[in-house]
Amino acid sequence: MATVILVSRPVGVLSKISGICYPAAAAAVSGATVQQRKLHHAVIPKGKGGRSSCSGIAATVFGATGFLGRYVVNKLGRIGSQVVVPFRCDQYDLMYIRPMGDLGQIIFMEWDPRNKDSIQRALEHSNVVINLVGREWETRNNRFEDVFVTIPQQLARAAKEAGVPTFIHVSHLNADIRSPSKYLRNKAVGENVVREEFPEAIIMKPAEMFGREDRFFNHYANMRWFGGAIPLIALGKKTVKQPVYVVDVAQAIVNAVRDPGAKGKTYALVGPSRYLLRDLVEHIYAVAHRPFIPYPLPRPLYHLVAKFFALNPFEPWTTPDKVDRFHTTDMKHPGLPGLEDLGIVPSSVEERAIEILRRHRRYRYLDAGRDDTKPAKTVNY
Ligand SMILES: NC(=O)c1ccc[n+]([C@@H]2O[C@H](COP(=O)([O-])OP(=O)(O)OC[C@H]3O[C@@H](n4cnc5c(N)ncnc54)[C@H](OP(=O)(O)O)[C@@H]3O)[C@@H](O)[C@H]2O)c1
Repeated sequence: MATVILVSRPVGVLSKISGICYPAAAAAVSGATVQQRKLHHAVIPKGKGGRSSCSGIAATVFGATGFLGRYVVNKLGRIGSQVVVPFRCDQYDLMYIRPMGDLGQIIFMEWDPRNKDSIQRALEHSNVVINLVGREWETRNNRFEDVFVTIPQQLARAAKEAGVPTFIHVSHLNADIRSPSKYLRNKAVGENVVREEFPEAIIMKPAEMFGREDRFFNHYANMRWFGGAIPLIALGKKTVKQPVYVVDVAQAIVNAVRDPGAKGKTYALVGPSRYLLRDLVEHIYAVAHRPFIPYPLPRPLYHLVAKFFALNPFEPWTTPDKVDRFHTTDMKHPGLPGLEDLGIVPSSVEERAIEILRRHRRYRYLDAGRDDTKPAKTVNY
């Protein structure tokens, strides 16, 4: 199939595209005029669709080194995409990402969100930019405003200026300017600034995600180390959660990239069932084959304890903001499309929790299967 992809880019970018230079065309067009050009052969779709074929996607994934990032890069790599991974950590900490794509298809680039040139360099050869940058706690150098508003704004602006056709921004299901959580308030502002900078951006709003490296199921399972009893505000009976499987979210992102109808849409990504937080945590302990002893902790007292943990200068185990976020009921967005609209059947907690929680079991329960645990009680409000 002779496929020729035409994309629009500012002329400054043209001469830098690897392998193809159009000096005559570039000279003919001045300033920021947009030019149509052929893409490099490396991103012309070919092959049977596996890791060694070419999907036609050249994606820059900001935040690829995080929890969701590894699944997104792997999903892109296995259909034969070229993935640029901007990073700021040690090279050795990226080793697990290398085999996710064919030889030369995963490209690592150091970046600094405060350096516009590094952002520009990271995305100028891509036809898709995905923003997964996030942080669960604030530091003196990186406030939630920086991570959830300024960085997405910079990325959306740079992508627009470079003529990148597809921009995907990951927000949060409960992003709300009136939320008690600063994280969620800034997520709401972030969605608006991204829309302003890049009106056709695709915004993904996942609920709390669960998966092997999550900070949700693992967080509750690890609470047993603090005396064996689990603190929950109002015993978790006033909070409803609808967690979503991280692999489904990654697949949704890849499907949205390939769906021309997704441009400009906002997706609410949730799991198939809603649970009271108490019932969900009880299920986590049932799958981990550990005793579940919940006790009610008033919010101000919980905040006080969390403030103590938040003093940790490295990765705080919890923070007052995280307490509020976990005790926020998951919003329903009936007007927004979801996983099903991207061709995905959402995986249930009962199906997948064992993958995460098996390692929290005592040795003698390691072999116990999924059917040994009763499904969690669900609610429909
Ligand atoms: N996890 C969830 O349950 C959940 C639910 C809903 C929405 N989300 C959103 O989904 C996105 C991905 O979540 P995640 O759980 O994969 O996040 P994560 O594991 O915390 O990873 C965040 C990524 O952002 C990068 N990052 C953070 N601060 C940065 C900064 N100041 N400058 C440059 N890079 C920075 C990290 O790089 P380093 O590795 O260098 O630190 C990492 O690659 C986030 O926007 C998050 O808010 C997550």
